[in-house]
Amino acid sequence: MTDQTHERSEKNRVLIFDTTLRDGEQCPGASMTFEEKLDVAELLDEMGVDIIEAGFPIASQGDFDSVTEIAKRTKNAVIAGLSRAAMKDIDRCAEAVRHARRPRIHTFLSTSPVHMKWKLQKEPHEVYEMVIQQVTRARNHVEDVEWSSEDGTRTEHDFLCRCVEAAIKAGATTINIPDTVGYSTPTEYAALIKMVRERVPNSDQAVFSVHCHDDLGMAVANSLAGVDGGARQIECTINGIGERAGNASLEEVVMAMRVRNDVIPYWTGIDARLLTRASKLVSAVTSFPVQYNKAIVGRNAFAHESGIHQDGMLKHTQTYEIMRPEDVGVRATSLVMGKHSGRHAFREKLKELGYELGDNALEDAFRRFKDLADKKKHVYDEDIVALVDDEIAQKHDRIKIVSLMVIAGTMGPQSATLVLDIDGAQHTTQATGNGPVDATFNAIKHLVPHTAKLLLYQVHAVTEGTDAQAEVSVRLEEGGKEVTARGADPDTLVASAKAYINALNKLAVKRQSVNPQTAVG
Ligand code: KIV
Ligand code: ZN
Repeated sequence: MTDQTHERSEKNRVLIFDTTLRDGEQCPGASMTFEEKLDVAELLDEMGVDIIEAGFPIASQGDFDSVTEIAKRTKNAVIAGLSRAAMKDIDRCAEAVRHARRPRIHTFLSTSPVHMKWKLQKEPHEVYEMVIQQVTRARNHVEDVEWSSEDGTRTEHDFLCRCVEAAIKAGATTINIPDTVGYSTPTEYAALIKMVRERVPNSDQAVFSVHCHDDLGMAVANSLAGVDGGARQIECTINGIGERAGNASLEEVVMAMRVRNDVIPYWTGIDARLLTRASKLVSAVTSFPVQYNKAIVGRNAFAHESGIHQDGMLKHTQTYEIMRPEDVGVRATSLVMGKHSGRHAFREKLKELGYELGDNALEDAFRRFKDLADKKKHVYDEDIVALVDDEIAQKHDRIKIVSLMVIAGTMGPQSATLVLDIDGAQHTTQATGNGPVDATFNAIKHLVPHTAKLLLYQVHAVTEGTDAQAEVSVRLEEGGKEVTARGADPDTLVASAKAYINALNKLAVKRQSVNPQTAVG
């Protein structure tokens, strides 16, 4: 299992282009802070991702700053920034990626009839000229230029080939044919890539790339089919996050090529043992939960519930497992630790779960673990993961919860007394509400006035039992920006407050200010 059966050569090597920080971050509610983006980029680099698309520098000062910093820090991967066809976009992108050891400008333009007519409001001959200008401009800045024909799968074939030929002639070194709207099918997409490579006379001078969206659930299948058609770069994201239904999932394309190397004879430079850690990190920083039955990284991906399956597994793991959990960094769930476990055992457990915390973060996490172990009879791996993810999510926060006391029950009105630390100063307030959660959120609103609307409030138990930790997800919207955040705690109301505050912290990063209200009550 998971053995490469085909010989590795440069001809069958597939480059992994990760766009979690650009296409992934672009989807509603998945925004990450500056520090979170640096953490994700560091792990992607460690995992062996070939190209990290770090952001869209013209989109905001925040994007520009994070692309710049990632470019400065990354040791191995090529750092790409995205830009539209406008000269100022390309120049801004160049300014951000120029710090990288290996910078790339990824510039795109729509080529389909529907996009040219309605979105660009340009004639095909104008678009053709723009392709030449954008690639030429990008090549004046860097040697590594990727050109994408946005909505490539709905582009008329002759026009697509002409644009690709012109882009390569102008200096593009990678040509990406995206299935922007997730409309294609595997057979059709493989044929499209093959057709373009065969018909474009200078196609041998560029690497062809696939970028598939999952609107019909075929992004991974389409990406692999595109490789069969001759592409040697796959654009994908951790957990498949991205615009609308998302992008092809990195962990799925990588493991499909490994596990079924007999029929998908390509290889990548990815260290698959870091896949689970990457999935957890991206889920923690975006607060996008991973579907339980998600392939490779879902929490049920290696769980065997039915008696027949469990019996088979005990006799031989290959009866129901096509890959070993440890190959993707998963360890069996165990009843791990209790209140007598020490700091050393806790640090070892964290390592086993894929976390390396600095001394201060470790100390904080250990203190929280001890509190939890006092309250909860059994502490499972999942409890520790929730606790550490919570810690990571709050690492750089400006607003922190100091204490919360809530009066609930049938004798209303329910009220909450809250103390927050805002930029190092403590603020206290009391508020009532229509139920304890409402009272808690009203108290937060007193101390951190904002206009954000609550779009989602969700609670689930991390493990089983009435003493299980609650994990709360909250989605807020303010001025057209959506953020999602999570909080975990054995007390559901504390978890709710943490989730709400985490979301406000994310919005504050966007607004650059939290404007604390002076102490009330
Ligand atoms: O989906 C798409 O077409 C894109 C391009 C910008 C590459 O994300
Ligand atoms: Zn996309």
